[in-house]
Amino acid sequence: HDNGMARTPPMGWNTWNTFGCNINETLIRQTADAIVGTGMRERGYQYVVVDDCWFNPNRDPAGNLQGDPNRFPSGMKALGDYLHGKGLKFGIYQVPVDRTCAQYFGAYPGATGSRGHEVQDARQFAAWGVDYLKYDWCSPEGSIDEQVATFARMRDALAATGRPIVYSINPNSIHAKTGPLRDWGDVANLWRTTEDITNAWDTGQSNGYPMGIQNIVNVNVPLAGYAQPGGFNDPDMMEIGRSGLTDTEQRSHFALWAIMAAPLIAGNDIRGSSAATLAILNNADLIAVDQDPLGLQAIQVAGDGTRRVLAKRLADGDVAVALFNQGNAATTVSTTAAAIGKTGSSFTLRDLWTGASSTTTGAISATVPAHGTAVFRVSGGGTTEPPPTFRLRGEASGR
Ligand code: GLA
Repeated sequence: HDNGMARTPPMGWNTWNTFGCNINETLIRQTADAIVGTGMRERGYQYVVVDDCWFNPNRDPAGNLQGDPNRFPSGMKALGDYLHGKGLKFGIYQVPVDRTCAQYFGAYPGATGSRGHEVQDARQFAAWGVDYLKYDWCSPEGSIDEQVATFARMRDALAATGRPIVYSINPNSIHAKTGPLRDWGDVANLWRTTEDITNAWDTGQSNGYPMGIQNIVNVNVPLAGYAQPGGFNDPDMMEIGRSGLTDTEQRSHFALWAIMAAPLIAGNDIRGSSAATLAILNNADLIAVDQDPLGLQAIQVAGDGTRRVLAKRLADGDVAVALFNQGNAATTVSTTAAAIGKTGSSFTLRDLWTGASSTTTGAISATVPAHGTAVFRVSGGGTTEPPPTFRLRGEASGR
């Protein structure tokens, strides 16, 4: 979507994964302070997104949305001002239907969705200083055509405010899905591609609730062709720094989100981030891969269901390559410079976890622990045009 926003995938933090409905302005302010204090802001984490349950379940007499007076006693404008004062940006959650997801599932009363209030609500968000809207179709109703028309209404209402606002949508969020259902690049900057993520490696779900990290990767990898500046696949917010994943799995999660050009939206309690968590979230080399200005999502150049090789062309001619071991035992994962679209006879490999550099005449290989991902930035030589075509598990694909 060409509104000038999200030329690279947005980075930030969202309340939902750790806090659910248990949110308030003190938590958000403390988190904002922690995003600054941990150095995350300097790395690019910018958007602080207040997910579901921020609102008063009653609109005011003029029909305007209001913050929950108990959770946000200073009001939403004051919260936006606080975030802006910290050099951060303000994100908020809303739905295109009648009830937010928490209202739909009974965790929060009311019916304060934007259906029929799009223009009024977009103006209200702009007046509060909102910079990012997460808009979540949490309803079993609605054909794809109705969803497209309804999501487009808010797209246009946001544009009409004149305020630059990232537009992040979740089509059909309570229906299991194995992809974005259509190419949403004409409607939004980000579109969710799966059911909700959880802090587990494998929930056994290929398209149901909730999804583990590798289950999401399986769905999101084949969608590479949709990604471009201004429009990215959204495999959901990160689970790094929470329980349930090993250190190896957390590193895989981050490396794969970066090479898939995913939004990097942290979901942990930033106030309690360990050094180990920050070493992952603040990995500058991987953030640079994610934020590369070409805005390409890695394509899978080889895969046998266990060992997968993902490659992402970068603006300076380098190629980032992930050697992902999806199996349950350590193994060697290998590719070549030619297979990832490099030409030439001598290359430098920078290991983006250790920072170590080595040279190769073409072989790229690593011993990778179970569920691990080795990731290199490959420099030198030239690049083939067009880049290698997308293949999933050894099969040719249309994209
Ligand atoms: C849906 C979304 C989640 C979160 C919740 C809030 O499940 O997919 O990301 O926003 O709603 O209720």
